[in-house]
Amino acid sequence: MASEGEAAQELRTLRDCLRWAVSRLAQTQVGTGHGTASLFDEAVAMALWSLHLPPDELDRWLDARLARSEREALITLIERRCSERVPAAYLTGEAWLRGVCFRSDARALVPRSLIAEALDTSLAAYLDVLQRLSNWPRRVLDLCTGGGSLAVLCALRFPDAQIRASDLSEPALALAAENVSLHGLATRIDLVQGDLLAPHSGEAFDLIVCNPPYVCDASMALLPQEFRAEPRLALAGGPDGMQLVTRILGEAAQHMADDALLVLEIGHEATHFERAFPKLEYAYLPVEAGEQMVVAIEARALSTLRPASRPRRTRAVSPTRPSDRRPAA
Ligand SMILES: C[S@@+](CC[C@H](N)C(=O)[O-])C[C@H]1O[C@@H](n2cnc3c(N)ncnc32)[C@H](O)[C@@H]1O
Repeated sequence: MASEGEAAQELRTLRDCLRWAVSRLAQTQVGTGHGTASLFDEAVAMALWSLHLPPDELDRWLDARLARSEREALITLIERRCSERVPAAYLTGEAWLRGVCFRSDARALVPRSLIAEALDTSLAAYLDVLQRLSNWPRRVLDLCTGGGSLAVLCALRFPDAQIRASDLSEPALALAAENVSLHGLATRIDLVQGDLLAPHSGEAFDLIVCNPPYVCDASMALLPQEFRAEPRLALAGGPDGMQLVTRILGEAAQHMADDALLVLEIGHEATHFERAFPKLEYAYLPVEAGEQMVVAIEARALSTLRPASRPRRTRAVSPTRPSDRRPAA
């Protein structure tokens, strides 16, 4: 493996630098999963940021030669990523989700919620199935908003809606305020601090989106070092990951209009979710990462939620086959 000095001396093009960066990231076995799916994607994101190039313009510049100072800056960034073992977004201070840029730092989880994709794909398809009007929803709650990315994406996706976003963490909300102002959305998104639904007493929403802490204890113990740089409060969901989810499902109905929907990310915890709520009616909203990682639950299903012992079948909603889509029955 070339030393830093040798790399700065020998590498020429962006393509050369990316090859070196991927080799270096692989050599130190960095963990990915904060918005990039591979070491190559990770290297590309850092390289384009370092060169002040748009994140979607890789092909155009691959064979461009870099000045020595540019190579050195990129090499320094990659070396920090390898030695500090924090997500790249915490080093660059920004993260992109669905083509939208967010400020990112250790005050909140790096934006990567699967709900962001669902908003544009499977949720949009599901709303067609439910025959929601084009001006639905009028009131949206982003529960557990962290750095505010889902609140901002909901405001962009639903231009007629007023958005409330809340979180227990004051530092996360300070970052969310920066992101709301970055996107000029201060008049449409209000940020509130508090424990789950407590700050929303007496209010009803049409749509609640929530990416809660849902990582079970066993998975927490196995997370790569990079995830430990993120707030534990944002990830840990207790023994089966369902600690916060159980509270949310218990309280949400009181804050939902009659035709409201709760869209909840559960990640890799579908088995624990199905075991914890065997009689709950819901539909999975498929995303690229998996079929059973985001659920949609109607208000009427939550209002009849009771503990039960027998699992109930649920169905995935396919974004490509509208005729298959229906709420779980
Ligand atoms: C998985 S992160 C999601 C952040 C953001 N929505 C996103 O997708 O990037 C979960 C968030 O839940 C917040 N949280 C944890 N416990 C909470 C509670 N009891 N009440 C409100 N928010 C809570 C954490 O501070 C964290 O910001």
